[in-house]
Amino acid sequence: MNPKLHMDAIFWNDRYSVAGHVYGEEPNAFVAEVAPHIPAGPVLCLAEGEGRNAVYLATLGHRVTAVDQSEVGLAKARRLADTHGVEITTVTADLDCYDIAVGAWAGIIATFAHLPPAVRRRIHHDVAAGLMPGGVFILEAYTPAQLAFDTGGPKTS
Ligand SMILES: C[S@@+](CC[C@H](N)C(=O)[O-])C[C@H]1O[C@@H](n2cnc3c(N)ncnc32)[C@H](O)[C@@H]1O
Repeated sequence: MNPKLHMDAIFWNDRYSVAGHVYGEEPNAFVAEVAPHIPAGPVLCLAEGEGRNAVYLATLGHRVTAVDQSEVGLAKARRLADTHGVEITTVTADLDCYDIAVGAWAGIIATFAHLPPAVRRRIHHDVAAGLMPGGVFILEAYTPAQLAFDTGGPKTS
């Protein structure tokens, strides 16, 4: 892992080292709205954090893999899955080095992943290749217009 990304993992591990879920236990509203469009089959959740989307999609019957650089976030994701009586697979990885299996996924999810442009370009290319026929990519992300609102998230586009 390069030093910059190692620092990011430390940042997110620290951020998730609190009681409760920083982004809540309920799924992202857009993910919940469009999840019925995901065909039956395995789902990959990128930059999944504490697992709110992964666990929800597992309760719908999908076999879910959640990837994030934060082992603390993913440990909370596994506990959330236990609470809901479902299983998820978690992978602690830097998305810059993570290989998305080709043609393997009925759904790929990314909410507020905030990836740097170069990583984002590669990942989105690999997402397209990773979907099985009829598979669905669900993305929610800021546009550069978000900068004017001075909310959380990256300060570059
Ligand atoms: C704003 S949080 C969103 C978490 C989750 N998607 C959600 O909506 O609840 C951003 C997440 O992206 C993860 N992340 C950012 N860059 C990453 C990278 N290069 N590799 C793996 N995870 C990354 C962080 O660890 C963090 O969990």
